[in-house]
Amino acid sequence: MLRKIGFLILFIISFSFMIYYGKETFYIDQKASTEMSHDYHFALITEEVGNEYWRLIEKGAKQAAEENDVYLEYIGPKLADDEERLETFDRMIAADVDGIIVKGMNDERFPQLVKKAKDRKIPVATIDTDNPTSNRDFYVGTDNFQAGYLAGRTLIKETEGKQKIAVIIGLKEAQNQLDRLAGFEKAIEDVDRMELIGVSESRITEVGAADGTYQLLKNHGNITAFFGVSALDGIGIVQAIEEINPTSRPYVLAFDLLPETLSLIENDKIQATVAQYPQEMGQQAVEQMVQWYQNQQPDSIQHTETGIIKQEDILNGEIIPKEEQ
Ligand code: BGC
Repeated sequence: MLRKIGFLILFIISFSFMIYYGKETFYIDQKASTEMSHDYHFALITEEVGNEYWRLIEKGAKQAAEENDVYLEYIGPKLADDEERLETFDRMIAADVDGIIVKGMNDERFPQLVKKAKDRKIPVATIDTDNPTSNRDFYVGTDNFQAGYLAGRTLIKETEGKQKIAVIIGLKEAQNQLDRLAGFEKAIEDVDRMELIGVSESRITEVGAADGTYQLLKNHGNITAFFGVSALDGIGIVQAIEEINPTSRPYVLAFDLLPETLSLIENDKIQATVAQYPQEMGQQAVEQMVQWYQNQQPDSIQHTETGIIKQEDILNGEIIPKEEQ
């Protein structure tokens, strides 16, 4: 009897191994054949896989990939993490993909990885955030200093009297966030009535932005305006304002056009937002990478559009096209 049970256990174990490894082999084969059936295999390395803003970049990139017979791998950390992003970059070089599109980083290892990729004839593009000191082939994305400057000018135009301003920044190590803040500071520096009283970091999360806003409001009762520098910051700022419910409501300037931001603008909780066009970024980056293979050297810096969106520009959650305004 015991022998029989022993055999049965052995059988179950070996059967499970067979199923597991069989499936793995099948998966790898399937992946390899998907890659092989395309002209190119590009990797798009995101800052945070599930982030709504990055999903829009992915959407645009996938559209262009379909049209150009590219197998596009969208890959990166679950939560923003520079170490993991660098590791993924290195792994994609080792996998010998045909092109890498990656959010640029300040870390000194970033230019080294770009060099490593280029030594292996893998073209590299930065997206959303540049690192012009690296030898990347081209950048597609917002002019972040200019976008921050525009935010500052908007705040000057849209407010009256003395302003005590607080800023929620996505990540202090992200160059696009620093450039936006620098542009913003430049715009307000000569205007006496504009005073920046504090900066807090959200780690690009809504809850981080809400926490930072909560603390800032608790510590400085008289804040008159908030500027949220990354896509979810404006939404978090509103959450904290709703909770604290200050006697006079601060002006809220957000970033990006996520559906919730547009709805908060329509409901007068956010007064304006700086527009970026992530879907266009993704699309353009893939198209330009294909061009690179056709020996047409893409322009080194390719700025996508930016602008200010306010309540009058939105109808039922959608931006009213310019020609209809
Ligand atoms: C920035 C991205 C960032 C995202 C976070 C956007 O405004 O351009 O770099 O990852 O916000 O939600």
